[in-house]
Amino acid sequence: MVKPEVTVITPTYNERENVVKLIEELDRCFKEAGITYEVVVVDDNSPDGTAEAVEGLMSKYPVKLVRRPSKLGLTSAVFDGLKYAEGTYVVVMDADLQHPPEVVPKLYVKALEGYDLVIASRYVSGGSAKFPLHRLIVSLGATLIARVLIPKARKVKDPMSGFFLVKKDVISKITPTSPKSYKVLLEVLALGSYRNVYEVPYEFRERVVGKSKLGFKTMLNYVKQVLNLTPDYVRFALVGASGTVVNLGVLAVLRYVANLTHEIASALAIEASIINNFVWNDLWTFKGGRSGSVASRLIKFHFSSAVGVITQYVISLTTYYYIVRNSIIAQSIGILTGFIINYVLSKKFVWSPRRF
Ligand code: GDD
Ligand code: MN
Repeated sequence: MVKPEVTVITPTYNERENVVKLIEELDRCFKEAGITYEVVVVDDNSPDGTAEAVEGLMSKYPVKLVRRPSKLGLTSAVFDGLKYAEGTYVVVMDADLQHPPEVVPKLYVKALEGYDLVIASRYVSGGSAKFPLHRLIVSLGATLIARVLIPKARKVKDPMSGFFLVKKDVISKITPTSPKSYKVLLEVLALGSYRNVYEVPYEFRERVVGKSKLGFKTMLNYVKQVLNLTPDYVRFALVGASGTVVNLGVLAVLRYVANLTHEIASALAIEASIINNFVWNDLWTFKGGRSGSVASRLIKFHFSSAVGVITQYVISLTTYYYIVRNSIIAQSIGILTGFIINYVLSKKFVWSPRRF
């Protein structure tokens, strides 16, 4: 077989009727557009006989079947399928026909114009999703979370799309953080080495046959995935914000419930916030960079926090006296600089990954 231009990877779990129709329709669309292709179906031992139905089509269409022993998750299915993909470009789409096959050639046109990543999008003008209201709310909520925590997801309107085309080189080196997740595209957006992105509108159709496999567990998985893909400087900033809340909360309790003096309450509240920040940074922000003992990291973190605070003070005063006579602006610039210094010191000095 000659090397195809496009490989379509489609994960299946109980999609017997749908996948047959999908393959027939894809064949028609690709032939009409004059594009060479192959389809890689990744089936997780579906009890409904999906794999056997696909086997029945293999003499007629360029189809490869990857059979896995059990339901191992959508993201890992896509990355397992990738190992068999021979196309220069890869299209990831669902098998249930909610992602219309006739959109695929449109994605390819954009790839030929030079885009590395082309997303079929529900949320650009011309796109739509026929969702029941509760799913629309979940989808928009999930999109918002991704936007806040993963800056690279902000580049696009539909970072949650399950339907996209990507140059194979862009994703061949990715190790997905969350094999069970539904959001393959988030991994690609956060970890892929693409130069540019384009969104093509499409209509997310209603499912006609079979049912969605998206349940509560999927949503929990999603939160885990987003937390895994959040860059460390965003984590560090969020932890810093939580530290401020702890600081003020502890201060209020010590001062007004325990009736301590301001000097003591303030000092203890600052210490509480440093410990809070340390715990979260150690468990989450820099979890890959832990080395040595916890105690030594805790001491080093006190040092980097102190340097951060001193920097903040010096920059605030310098800005106020030499640049702008405005306390809020001066202090804000101080906070930002202190944050950066504390971040750099924490990353390089407190949680530097062991070098071999
Ligand atoms: N191999 C395998 N293993 N396939 C799976 C698994 C699994 O564990 N879980 C789901 N699938 C397959 C389904 O058979 C289907 O072809 C596809 O993955 C999507 O599953 P659905 O259950 O239909 O998902 P959905 O319609 O709720 O959501 C999809 O569309 C959204 C909009 O594009 C997903 O692709 C979402 O990620 C996406 O946001
Ligand atoms: Mn679906």
